[in-house]
Amino acid sequence: MTFHILADMPAEPDFDRLRAEFPVLRRKTYLNSGSYCALANDVKAAFEQYMEDRLLVGANWDVWVMKNEAVRELTAQLLNAKPEEIAVTASVSAGINALASALTFNGPRNKVVISDFEFPTNAQIWHAQEPRGAKVVHVPIAADGYIPLENFERVIDENTQLVAITHVCFRNGAKLDIPAIVKLAHARGAKVLLDSYQAAGTVDIDVKKLDVDFCVGGMLKYLLGTAGIGFLYVRESLINSLLPTHSGWFAQENITAMDITANRPAHTARRFEAGTPPVVNCYASEAGLKILLGIGTPAIEKRVEMLTRRCMERLAEIGWPSITPTQAERRGATIATPARDASGLSKELMDRDIVTSWRDKNLRASWHFYNNDQDIEAFIGAMKSLRDRYAPQ
Ligand SMILES: Cc1ncc(COP(=O)(O)O)c(C=O)c1O
Repeated sequence: MTFHILADMPAEPDFDRLRAEFPVLRRKTYLNSGSYCALANDVKAAFEQYMEDRLLVGANWDVWVMKNEAVRELTAQLLNAKPEEIAVTASVSAGINALASALTFNGPRNKVVISDFEFPTNAQIWHAQEPRGAKVVHVPIAADGYIPLENFERVIDENTQLVAITHVCFRNGAKLDIPAIVKLAHARGAKVLLDSYQAAGTVDIDVKKLDVDFCVGGMLKYLLGTAGIGFLYVRESLINSLLPTHSGWFAQENITAMDITANRPAHTARRFEAGTPPVVNCYASEAGLKILLGIGTPAIEKRVEMLTRRCMERLAEIGWPSITPTQAERRGATIATPARDASGLSKELMDRDIVTSWRDKNLRASWHFYNNDQDIEAFIGAMKSLRDRYAPQ
């Protein structure tokens, strides 16, 4: 399948042309990519291709496996990893569970450090290990709403086995200082799991440069794919020392051996997979990842930084505060603004064809490369007209 969107792409991305490939943007101001992305024509075509293949070929196991491998390879490119270091999973939760099943917590290093910025799944799964001996400790948020390195310094110690942290917080769009936290964790003998779901696709992630040991993410949000598919990166040198008890036939060294006498896990990160791949989701995610890689994540990161900065500046001009950090290095793609009734505000914006979301007492506007200045002005115009009823007093 050839991808229409990337044909004749100039060296500098033409964001107006790219925007035209997302039909919903003709009808809506779409600021909800932190929940799920706008659908690209190429991703829609990939879903249709799946249907065609099912109708014309019926069951084509080889193509199915090939699609899973395509997602593995593209994810590896996205993260600057090797394909052998990537497990294609059904969700972030599936990846974290498989990893947790390979860890033991009965020695002195039984501590798992998470932050108070975590998405629930990356907290609940670690708390679920408590009956197995894990001691889960939270790094608290400081008075200014951020979690500085000092707070991690106080909690990560010689008993810490794993620091499991989000890259960008789903609630307020704050980005943690990952390189500094990784350095600190490694100096104290702990491994680091990065939950990149709110960053991958808008932040240029290089797992080698960041030096993380594990990284999870999913394809539904900024990776332009769909629900029901994600990934787990495992540093190559760690793979064979970890034996997941969460397993299945697609995790075996030889998938087609059909051996029911033993568990023989793959010698690659595929040992963290389980059953039949999420095939239709692989078609869609392959298309989404190709779009992102065709543009290049450094260019996307630059554009998203510009859009989020302008959005915050314009909000400040109309007197509406944001809780998202203003410094570029502390900010992801989401701008969160407090409101008297965030759910009501999001509904009113939807009535004006502006798609946002909300968490706690804050409205979330999430930006991607396909957004532009018109979207900022449409959002600010609507927020201004709703200010008297919804802005915090
Ligand atoms: C940071 C983060 N991690 C994890 C998830 C959920 O992961 P999954 O539903 O794939 O398990 C989300 C959002 O859905 C998220 O924002």
